[in-house]
Amino acid sequence: MAKSNIKSVFFCNECGYESSKWVGQCPACKAWNTMVEEKVDRRSPTGAGSRRASGLGEVNKPVPIKDISMEDEDRLNVGIGEFDRVLGGGIVPGSLTLVGGDPGIGKSTLLLQVCRKLSDVGTRVLYVSGEESLKQIKLRAVRIGPMNDELLLLCETNLENIIEQVKKSSARVVVIDSIQTMYSDSLDAAAGSVSQVREATSLLMRMAKEQGISVFIVGHVTKEGTVAGPRVLEHMVDTVLYFEGDRHASYRMLRGVKNRFGSTNEMGVFEMKNEGLKEVPNPSEYMLSGRPVGASGAVVSCAIEGTRPILIEIQALVSRTNFGFPRRQSAGSDTNRLNLLMAVLEKRLDMKIGDFDAYVNIAGGLKISEPAIDLAVVMAVVSSFRNKAVADDTVIFGEIGLSGEVRAVNNASVRVAEAKKLGFKRVIIPKSNAASVDVKGIEIEGVSSIEEAISKAL
Ligand code: TYD
Ligand code: MG
Repeated sequence: MAKSNIKSVFFCNECGYESSKWVGQCPACKAWNTMVEEKVDRRSPTGAGSRRASGLGEVNKPVPIKDISMEDEDRLNVGIGEFDRVLGGGIVPGSLTLVGGDPGIGKSTLLLQVCRKLSDVGTRVLYVSGEESLKQIKLRAVRIGPMNDELLLLCETNLENIIEQVKKSSARVVVIDSIQTMYSDSLDAAAGSVSQVREATSLLMRMAKEQGISVFIVGHVTKEGTVAGPRVLEHMVDTVLYFEGDRHASYRMLRGVKNRFGSTNEMGVFEMKNEGLKEVPNPSEYMLSGRPVGASGAVVSCAIEGTRPILIEIQALVSRTNFGFPRRQSAGSDTNRLNLLMAVLEKRLDMKIGDFDAYVNIAGGLKISEPAIDLAVVMAVVSSFRNKAVADDTVIFGEIGLSGEVRAVNNASVRVAEAKKLGFKRVIIPKSNAASVDVKGIEIEGVSSIEEAISKAL
């Protein structure tokens, strides 16, 4: 009897690291208890971990870069502005895009709407679902609106069948919902296991590249925030989009994390309505809606998401600690950063806030990691601490250094222009930025320290 090619290997559920024996901690991503055993058939052409995965038999020859034609770069415009923007201006033919997000956030809805838009302009699309029945998809489709003949549905989880159907249907765009439900015959492992997800993705990748079909794959995200099982998927695909948002609020954000055809960190904003997702073309207005007037502890700042400025409201609540250790908590921004800023206030401004709790929240559930909102966070904290409101018509931004100085931020003019657009009358910004900002019709105050900002704002 021939020697069996089926081997037992261990994969890290987090990052896809492969090991021949079990280990408690993944050597690659250092996560504990994430190694799972899977049977892998080494004969499979694209077998997980196989180095041959993408070398497709034929011998390729080098070509001069100037001889490569660009005609294939004709992007498909979806007609949903926020979606096109995140992709960098439409769908690239032959690209493989991963759309990740929590279950129930609206991935299927979004992609069905994309399919609908594409089919409306005569592009044939195939929506493959391994999660819902045709009836369930139809039910969702009815809420979204009328669909036409170019939109085909398929309920299937076997990849070989799917690839055959894609060929038959001559679809130009294919949606796979979700990659965790798909399996390939060439592997024994269960659907959703690391090796299946990898194999499925590499098969789809090959289909996309060989036939010039754009493929979208839906991936569910684990609690840790990575696409279930394989972060490995992120390396394989061309574009990674995350769909996120507060489940209790109605807006959703589509964020580009990786994009081989455009800039990353672009963001599209949608609102979940009864009839599906609706674009929010002006997120600043949206983020500021329902803002309290004349309340202490609330400050409007401007963050940059990708290339676009967004005004946000930062709220702070400072109250006396009841016993012992003060609590510092931040929703939407970094809690460690809040601790640092509180320490700066205490040490550099001699403010006695050491035995006060501080809670900071970015209204609307947006997550901002930019230090450019530091000054606004500090002003919100001081405003709450002193129980004195910052004027409603003021936008504040700037990074804070450890000696309490206010440092320059990038794209200052863009931020100021956005503030003006939304009707704000005054901005308090880093002094080093103020000179270069050339926006008329709004009062610009440059500050170089926290004290100076406090004296101007409060
Ligand atoms: P869905 O697209 O199924 O999420 P995912 O594919 O990411 O798991 O969306 C699920 C949620 O969206 C569900 O809770 C209902 C809500 N929804 C609406 O509010 N309005 C709509 O028109 C649709 C289709 C869904
Ligand atoms: Mg779904």
